[in-house]
Amino acid sequence: MLNDKDGIPTKEWGFYENGNSGMNPAVKTNSSLALQSQNIVVLGGSSGIGLAVAELALAAGAIVTLIARNPERLKAAAASLGGKVATRVADWNDPVALEVALAHLTRIDHVYVAAGSAHFAHAHKDSATEKFTAIQERILGSIHAVRIAAGRFPPGGSFVFTGGISTDRPVAGAWVTCVATAATEQLARTLALDLAPLRFNAISPGWTDTPMWDPLLGENKAAVFASVAEKLPVRRLATAHEVAEAVLLLMRVGSITGEVIHIDGGGRLV
Ligand SMILES: NC(=O)c1ccc[n+]([C@@H]2O[C@H](COP(=O)([O-])OP(=O)(O)OC[C@H]3O[C@@H](n4cnc5c(N)ncnc54)[C@H](OP(=O)(O)O)[C@@H]3O)[C@@H](O)[C@H]2O)c1
Repeated sequence: MLNDKDGIPTKEWGFYENGNSGMNPAVKTNSSLALQSQNIVVLGGSSGIGLAVAELALAAGAIVTLIARNPERLKAAAASLGGKVATRVADWNDPVALEVALAHLTRIDHVYVAAGSAHFAHAHKDSATEKFTAIQERILGSIHAVRIAAGRFPPGGSFVFTGGISTDRPVAGAWVTCVATAATEQLARTLALDLAPLRFNAISPGWTDTPMWDPLLGENKAAVFASVAEKLPVRRLATAHEVAEAVLLLMRVGSITGEVIHIDGGGRLV
């Protein structure tokens, strides 16, 4: 329904009930509806940040597909979301498996790529060839996903990749992760030009409390987290849901492309 004074939409868009939204009436956007009925794929959606993205996307009315390797973890993730998601088992490094996993979707609106892990290695001691695989997989996995899915996006669709604070604050003994996060963020910027108008963005989480750290830190996890938290300007680690909020923002706002959002509690400053 239109407001007969100036043609501004009223009821459908919700914002304009009092006819004084302060917004440009030519821009018909309502962020709370932007993801309604949209197909969102979370690659690496059975845990941590990916699972939090799935939860927020569902709450926004999206239709969500989770992809990961371990079927049991996927099943548990789906159960934690009330069974309202499709799940597919695939390794993002296997393009054939990924293609099968996405076969049920003729239209994909947004893909969040969470899959990846942290690796510690010393350039002068550990096997460079073996460790380099982690970088290669992260980049190739993203490229596989783009090649398989890109033709199914409507205007305004987007990919969100995951970089990390190690791009801006390199960590000694973690060259693999530092190079991988930087490459991923640069890939988003490059593909934003290469495949425009499809949008590509990245998030860069700082220390975030997710299950990723369990095998890496073991019983030291609480002590390491406490020590990191006291040095951060916000004095605590980010939650997976806070990072997920940034992912959803990048999906919703159709004018953002080639961007990297940092969710690091100010970690780059200290
Ligand atoms: N947590 C942090 O502090 C932090 C900081 C900076 C950046 N990051 C990055 O953020 C991303 C998400 O991290 P997170 O903390 O949420 O990790 P997480 O809890 O370990 O979740 C990783 C998810 O990715 C899936 N996955 C991993 N490798 C995969 C593959 N080859 N193919 C398909 N799925 C795969 C995992 O399931 P399966 O193992 O079953 O496949 C899981 O669902 C990662 O890329 C990580 O490097 C995290």
